[in-house]
Amino acid sequence: MTIPSLEQLYALGAAQQPTWPDPAALESAVTTLRSLPPLVFAGECDELTAHLGDVASGKAFVLQGGDCAETFAGLTAENVRAKLQVLLQMAVVLTYAAAVPVVKVGRIAGQYAKPRSNDLEVREGVELPAYRGDAVNGFDFDAISRVPDPQRLVQVYNSSAATLNLCRAFLQGGYADLREMHAWNTDFVRTSPVGAAYEKMASDIDRALDFMRAIGAESEELHRVNFHSSHEALILEYEHALTRIDSRTSLPYDVSGHFLWIGERTRQLGGAHVELMSRVRNPLGVKLGPTASPDDAVALAEKLNPDNSPGRLTFITRMGARRIRDALPNLVEKVTAAGVVVAWVTDPMHGNTFETSTGYKTRRFDDVIDEVRGFFEVHRALGTWPGGLHVELTGGDVTECLGGGEALDEQRLAHHYDSACDPRLNRTQSLELAFLVADMLRESRD
Ligand code: PEP
Ligand code: CO
Repeated sequence: MTIPSLEQLYALGAAQQPTWPDPAALESAVTTLRSLPPLVFAGECDELTAHLGDVASGKAFVLQGGDCAETFAGLTAENVRAKLQVLLQMAVVLTYAAAVPVVKVGRIAGQYAKPRSNDLEVREGVELPAYRGDAVNGFDFDAISRVPDPQRLVQVYNSSAATLNLCRAFLQGGYADLREMHAWNTDFVRTSPVGAAYEKMASDIDRALDFMRAIGAESEELHRVNFHSSHEALILEYEHALTRIDSRTSLPYDVSGHFLWIGERTRQLGGAHVELMSRVRNPLGVKLGPTASPDDAVALAEKLNPDNSPGRLTFITRMGARRIRDALPNLVEKVTAAGVVVAWVTDPMHGNTFETSTGYKTRRFDDVIDEVRGFFEVHRALGTWPGGLHVELTGGDVTECLGGGEALDEQRLAHHYDSACDPRLNRTQSLELAFLVADMLRESRD
């Protein structure tokens, strides 16, 4: 399969691209990127496709999570470790409580570019280009930092490489061993209800592991974990420069990450993003909001997965808690009736964002739960498989989303609001979500 040139892609119409001011600087950054080695291997992408095939056929559940927007400054060993830890904790809660294999995917090692509703941001009469993620420009609201700088794309590559290196080291170095479950919890508030629930589960699992060892049934699987990276494939220059022909199979892969998704704002059927992604072999996601019609979804599936192979395509629905029960049934029903093989995942974050009177972008934990509940209800009613959860979270104790067991209120948002873009669940809220979703998942299997 051939890959269209950047010019050909732009000719199709490319939404949400920065206006790079200096073409020579852009060319230079792209040339650098084209010469750099792959961040991920084709075989790893295929492995994830196979796991997602199990999700599409109802045999596994996928947990995808991480920052809304990674930042260069946020790349520290502690941050990456904490994010991995909360994902592993959530995954083990889901696996244990629902007895379903959980496919783990981070919104990590590449999630540096953001689509924006407006090209410009206005503050107190001053108008500047909107922040489009560290891949494009700086977060600070000043004229210099908001100029799109293509050299940042090279920094995305380097930061992603460093992040992946840490992830691989943590996971292969035994950090993800189930025997470490208690250790993952040491810095957690053990006295909190969710911390206590987790401790109890960890002890139960320990006993089960002892039993398995005693009967000689211990397997390598208990000490290994599957983990893959993902990000929104947004900036065409970056994704195009990292699209390579795999030497073993002669097939093209976008080696910037394992799983790539097309956002709600860039999923135009004839547009550049869909075209480029249709040519690479990675497992793909498409975000579908309340305006996505069943015809749109079926056409996207025909374009992105003409062979209908399980695991190639995931639909990530983000309807909002108030709309999911009306909007999702028709979509799932018609897509299923058209014979489309797809993994259905819920993103209960992006349809539930609002701004407080004090100017913080936030989400209510209860809305997040309600959308997930709606997702499970709809799939149950239709007899389809609720395949996974896509969330924005962090390993730290941020105060960005309202509610949860600690009843975080509007006053507290100011304490530790760190997100460069959308509000993330903190560690406690993430773990609480995992326990609630585990109950829903167990019920859906009954
Ligand atoms: C996101 O996932 O951060 C995002 C921008 O989502 P969506 O495309 O669904 O709006
Ligand atoms: Co977001």
